[in-house]
Amino acid sequence: MLSWDDFNTTEETLTKPTAEQVVAKPVIEEKVEADTSAAPVSKGSGSINNVAEALENLDIEKGLEELEGASGRVDVDQKQMINCRADVNQLVPFKYDWAWQKYLDGSANHWMPQEINMTADVALWKDPKGLTEDERRIVMRNLGFFSTADSLVANNIVLSVYRHITNPECRQYLLRQALEEAIHTHAYQYVIESLGMDEGEIFNMYKEVPSVARKAAWALPFTDSLADQKFQTGTLEDDKTLLRNLIAFYCVLEGIFFYCGFTQILSMGNRNKMTGTAEQFQYILRDESMHVNFGIDMINQIKLENPQLWDDAMQTEARNMILQGTQLEIEYAHDTMPGGILGMNAESMADYLKFIANRRLTQIGLEEEFPNATNPFPWMSEIMDLRKEKNFFETRVIEYQTGGALTWD
Ligand SMILES: [Fe+2]
Ligand SMILES: [Fe+2]
Repeated sequence: MLSWDDFNTTEETLTKPTAEQVVAKPVIEEKVEADTSAAPVSKGSGSINNVAEALENLDIEKGLEELEGASGRVDVDQKQMINCRADVNQLVPFKYDWAWQKYLDGSANHWMPQEINMTADVALWKDPKGLTEDERRIVMRNLGFFSTADSLVANNIVLSVYRHITNPECRQYLLRQALEEAIHTHAYQYVIESLGMDEGEIFNMYKEVPSVARKAAWALPFTDSLADQKFQTGTLEDDKTLLRNLIAFYCVLEGIFFYCGFTQILSMGNRNKMTGTAEQFQYILRDESMHVNFGIDMINQIKLENPQLWDDAMQTEARNMILQGTQLEIEYAHDTMPGGILGMNAESMADYLKFIANRRLTQIGLEEEFPNATNPFPWMSEIMDLRKEKNFFETRVIEYQTGGALTWD
C-alpha cells in the first residue's frame, strides 16, 4: 500500500517525541488558534551593544569556503545543471536562457482557482439527470488521481529534485513550478468542495481504486532514493538515479499520466458540460505542458553535459519507463470509460496515448515505438500547440488584469 509517510521518514525520525511526551500530550480535536496572549520574553543578556559587536565580527568568507569561486563572480562557463561547485545564489549571467524564459512565461500565466465561476457545474452535478454515470465516474476518478498526482509532483520537486539541480535559473523555474502545483491542488480541492463531493473518497482514491493506485505506485519509488537526505549526485550511478527520476516525473507522470484525464475533462467542456471544472483543467494543462517542456529541456541538457549517463542501458531503461507508463495509462482509460462517452472511448484513447508516447520518446532522443500512431484528438494538440501557447500567454496577461476567462471556441 502506498504511504505518504515515505516522504516524511527523516523528519519524523528527527522530531520523534519521547514516550513521556506522548503520554503527557493531550488529544486536541478542535481547531487550534494561534496564542497571542503570551507576555513578551525578557531581554536577558541581549543588548544593542552585543548586536553591534557580533555584526562587527561577521566573517563573510566563512560558509562560502566549500564553494569554489563562491567568493568571486560566477562565470557562465562555471554553470552546470548538476554537480556544479559555483555559487548557486548568483542568478546572472544566465547560461540556460530557456529556463529563465519559462519562468517568465509561467509567471505571466498566473491564475487562481477562485477566479473561475463554478455555478453551472454545481447545478449540473446536483441534477440527478444532469450527467450520465460514465461522465460522473470520469469527473470523480480524475479529481481522485490529479489531487494526489499534483501533490506527488510538488513533493518530488521540493524534497527530491531541487537540491540536486545546481543551477539558479533552473531552480527559479522549479520554485515557480512548485507554486503552480500548489495552485493545481488548490483547484481540485476547490472543485471537490464546490460540488459537495465526499472528500475522503476522492482524496483516498490513490489508495483504493486500482487504476489510480497503480499509477501513483509506479512513480513513488523514483522519488524515494532522492528524498533520502544522504543521497548526493556525483557518481555515475547516482547521477543516473537523478536522471531516472526526471524521466519518470516529467516524461511519464506529467507527460503521459495526465493526458487521458485532461482529454476526458476538456472533452466534456467542449460539449458544454462541467465548464467551470473544464476551465480549471484547461489552465492546469497550460501550466503542465510548460512543466513537461521544461523537464525535457532539463533532461536533454543533463545528457549533453554528461554523455556518459546516456549509455545503452540507460536508453533502454528510459524507453521501458515510457512504455510502462503508456500501458498504465491505457489501463486507466479502460477503467474510466468502460462504456465510452460521446466521441471518445478507451480504444481511441489508447491510440492517442501511443501518439503521445512516440512524442515523449523522440523528445529525449529515442526512436518512436508506434510508427503508425495518429492523433484522434487534434483539438488537444491545438490547445497545447506551442505557438498558440505563446499567443495564450500574451492574451492571458491582458485577460488576467481584467478578470476575463477562457472561452471554448
Ligand atoms: Fe500540476
Ligand atoms: Fe506539473
